[in-house]
Amino acid sequence: MRPRATVRMDLENDREELGKMVASLRRQVDWWEWAGIRFLPRSPVAKGAGDEKAVEDLLGGTEGDLFSDHAAAYRARSLHELRAAIGDCRRCKLWSGRTHIVFGVGNPKAALMFVGEGPGRDEDLQGEPFVGRAGQLLTDIITKGMGFKREDVYIANVIKCRPPENRNPEPDEVESCEPFLKKQVDLVRPKIIVALGKFAVQTLLRSKVPITRLRGVWHDYHGIKLMPTFHPAYLLRNPGDKKLVWEDIKNVLKELKSLSA
Ligand code: URA
Repeated sequence: MRPRATVRMDLENDREELGKMVASLRRQVDWWEWAGIRFLPRSPVAKGAGDEKAVEDLLGGTEGDLFSDHAAAYRARSLHELRAAIGDCRRCKLWSGRTHIVFGVGNPKAALMFVGEGPGRDEDLQGEPFVGRAGQLLTDIITKGMGFKREDVYIANVIKCRPPENRNPEPDEVESCEPFLKKQVDLVRPKIIVALGKFAVQTLLRSKVPITRLRGVWHDYHGIKLMPTFHPAYLLRNPGDKKLVWEDIKNVLKELKSLSA
């Protein structure tokens, strides 16, 4: 057995070492801030000098923005912490017209996640995504079509506050809000995302290709399989296209089954 005095000395040395490391890290972070470096990658690390793509990966991501309005959200380790980090959000102009921030609902460890555009009137009033007429159709797809409960999946939107008159979200609003969706995806880590409607699909995929060409085909969203399909509100206006959505949903069910086998 080691003498107590030696153990105490070791502990004091460890504490001193740790103090030095924290101070050095603080100096490093202060320096980054001073130098205007706002983004740090989680991965990958730049491979070679002069590799422009690698440098862009290193500096251009949003995940590690140390000093932005989103910093607390990036650090969140649970959906609960993420919601708390969003707070009484005023990062874009939509805050002034909203009743509720519509964060997201469902199983925090869901294998399947649905992403829509943004809250409508009913969602704004109730604080939950997809609870209006289009929401009822989505619920039917989940329960009657797929045989799941609504609580089994996770449902969220690209933006969390209702745009006035249900207009499309504007680019600055998406820029403010999409990091929260990305973080939600990161925390839930679903096996599959179903993106609902032109706006969500084109925003998530950074694409201008029409939804009619994107739907029904697998895409990638930060390493997660993404299936675009029509929005339930579109289906209410065009019930003839329900069969196409059913094709997409059958595809999703098949993939979910093979991913969990
Ligand atoms: N439409 C959406 O895109 N999301 C909702 O939450 C409701 C309607």
